[in-house]
Amino acid sequence: MTIRVTGTGSALPEKKVTNFDLEKLVETSDEWIQKRTGIAERRVSGGETVSSLAAEACKKALELAGKNAEEVDLIVVATCSPEFLLPCCACQVQDLIGASRAAAFDLNAACSGFLFALDTVYAYLHSGIYQNALIVGSEVLSKLVDWKDRGTCILFGDGAGAAFVEASAEDIVRDNGRKAGIECMLQGSDGAKGMVLSCEERAVNNAFMPKQPTENPYVRMDGQEVYKFATKQVPACIQETLGKAGMIVNDVDWFILHQANVRIIESVAKRLKADIAKFPMNIHQVGNMSSATIPVLLDECNRAGRIKEGDRLVLSGFGAGLTYGASVLVW
Ligand code: UT7
Repeated sequence: MTIRVTGTGSALPEKKVTNFDLEKLVETSDEWIQKRTGIAERRVSGGETVSSLAAEACKKALELAGKNAEEVDLIVVATCSPEFLLPCCACQVQDLIGASRAAAFDLNAACSGFLFALDTVYAYLHSGIYQNALIVGSEVLSKLVDWKDRGTCILFGDGAGAAFVEASAEDIVRDNGRKAGIECMLQGSDGAKGMVLSCEERAVNNAFMPKQPTENPYVRMDGQEVYKFATKQVPACIQETLGKAGMIVNDVDWFILHQANVRIIESVAKRLKADIAKFPMNIHQVGNMSSATIPVLLDECNRAGRIKEGDRLVLSGFGAGLTYGASVLVW
């Protein structure tokens, strides 16, 4: 059996916000942001929503996979910034793309969401419950960000990325002898560190319990704690995942990492003793789009022809929760 990605797609809002634009909002500078994060600009919603971006990304992924929306069995949207609590974003996407046969639900593992969705879908497909699925990471973080907080507003951007994943009964062997498809994966969570990156939803509020004033409805982050977690946990997770499959770092052609900070990516490469050229990056243009970063980068690399059939990829990331994960697959 082979379970592999056969199509990718992405969608970004039209509006670009540069570091120079942010200099007008908070006490910061293009120089500081570029040096400490690698980000020069990001996209910010001018009306695009989590579901509209997700639907656009899905349509492109289906087109690349050569599939019609009616053929989709399952839609899983990873998001931590939906416009609606009900209905879930995945059901909105189902309606927008016309995937009338699909089951649809959302999942929230913050920036690791796309990886958690991929693993969830792998389990569904491997068990035979479904034959295919659309997975999406989509975020409009600009509505959760405090535009007066220079510690967070410089980091995040809006966007969506999707992948179409299919199961086939037979093995698909590439020219280099590698079997295509998802090879192994690992997911982890550390809830005890949850409050280092948080954003409150509604507080308890009912007829018997008066509403407590919410102190801060925006993203709150202890950047240094998250940084420490990421630089330690991501390489450890990648090593463990590769080890599970009897592979080593040199067996990997591309590391598609969550784009949170260039310094984090460089540190991961160093700890793994891997060539930094194997770590594609787009954070410069799009910032950190949480669950959308990995699939948007994957789509960019796929469409640019950078990833070739038979290449082995590690997808890995970390995020609020705190959560982390890695998936190894052959294209
Ligand atoms: O998807 C997961 C999401 N989160 C992350 O991945 C966050 C991981 N953490 C980071 O990427 C980094 O910690 C940040 C980019 C958030 C911050 O970089 P840093 O090198 O850890 O800076 P810092 O917090 O240690 O701050 C250094 C200085 C401080 O000034 P003092 O106390 O040294 O005078 C900050 O107040 O830089 C100041 N600072 C800024 N200055 C200009 C903090 N933010 C800014 C800013 N512009 N935007």
